[in-house]
Amino acid sequence: MSAKVKIGIIGGGLMGREVASALGRWFVLDNYPVPAELTAVCDLAEKQREWFRQVPTVKLLTADHRELLASPEIDVVYVAVPHHLHEAIYLDVLQAGKDLFAEKPFGIDLKAARSIAAAAEASGRFVRCSSEFPFLPGAQRAYQIAREGRLGKLLEVRSGFHHSSDLDPAKPVNWKRQVKTCGEIGVMGDLGMHTVHVPFRLGWKPKRVYAQLQKIYHERPDGKGGMAPCDTWDNAMLHADVEIDGADVPVRFEMKRLAPGETNTWFLEILGTDGGVKYSTREPKTLRTFQRGKEQSWQRTDLGFHGPFPTITGAIFEPGFPDCFLQMWASFLAERAGKLDGRFGCITPGEAASSHELFAAALQSHTEKRAISVN
Ligand SMILES: NC(=O)c1ccc[n+]([C@@H]2O[C@H](COP(=O)([O-])OP(=O)(O)OC[C@H]3O[C@@H](n4cnc5c(N)ncnc54)[C@H](O)[C@@H]3O)[C@@H](O)[C@H]2O)c1
Repeated sequence: MSAKVKIGIIGGGLMGREVASALGRWFVLDNYPVPAELTAVCDLAEKQREWFRQVPTVKLLTADHRELLASPEIDVVYVAVPHHLHEAIYLDVLQAGKDLFAEKPFGIDLKAARSIAAAAEASGRFVRCSSEFPFLPGAQRAYQIAREGRLGKLLEVRSGFHHSSDLDPAKPVNWKRQVKTCGEIGVMGDLGMHTVHVPFRLGWKPKRVYAQLQKIYHERPDGKGGMAPCDTWDNAMLHADVEIDGADVPVRFEMKRLAPGETNTWFLEILGTDGGVKYSTREPKTLRTFQRGKEQSWQRTDLGFHGPFPTITGAIFEPGFPDCFLQMWASFLAERAGKLDGRFGCITPGEAASSHELFAAALQSHTEKRAISVN
């Protein structure tokens, strides 16, 4: 077994705590080759830092990310901070000679994403970006079916991620609802990486895009008795042309903060003339596949618990968010150690930059009300 990988977190909020959870049950991975532990945490807020005191492996708690980066103990740094801070902190991590597990959207805009991708390349460090849902069994099966080309001529693809809590106008504003901290791309920065991961990995990169973007509530309670502006795009429908096997196929990327009843619904649908596949986290263990024989049929299969990395969890159980997050981390550290062995990998810096090319073209498309070529 290799030496234990020591991990530091910058940004101990919602996602920083999820990483502590994944690393805290690392033993769930069965015969996994890379031991790892959470060693240090940086957050500006004392309350957030204090939460990590209950994690026995954490030796360093600090409000200054430079102090964390100066620690020779730390091998890999996961950064989960607001989007306007991505570029500066990611570059600091690389400068310090650490490997980087970045959060999406990998910079606040295309310029930042390209600068981070270039710095990652120049540094020679191992850098990947977070996107966990493709590690669910149903998503993996859909990916395999598409990759093996068992669907005939492709008719259309839908890849989406829907939320609904913003339907409530009384939900207070936060940094994700303001351009200065979330980015002009708004919901595309929040949810978009999750929708492009599998299509991009299949080589399905858009040639052109027509975007419909919506801002639904323009202000929200500021939590102090007043109202604050809410100026990011809430919902985005990106209608893209993707060349697959010599034909242009319509691929729709859907990102919505206001989708009635959808609490955290990631879905992928790929339809062809000979077969089709649909998977949604709404039914986390269920895969739907289409067959065209003498008669046409949709079949429903309950897959059970089979991630790319074996775990001690019983095969009949159903997977959820913490499980795909653990699988994503297993993939990150396996690939870093050269032990991915053909399994599904995390988003690369190049793919992350490509997602920003799509989102920048989408912004232009919405403004000009026409389809825009994607570089
Ligand atoms: N992969 C996913 O499913 C997923 C889900 C939600 C958010 N995210 C991404 O994770 C990142 C963080 O989102 P979140 O929901 O955890 O946000 P959050 O607001 O819950 O947490 C961010 C934390 O960063 C801290 N912080 C801010 N500036 C800092 C600095 N200079 N140094 C150290 N700490 C600092 C804040 O105090 C806060 O605790 C974003 O990039 C977001 O898009 C990913």
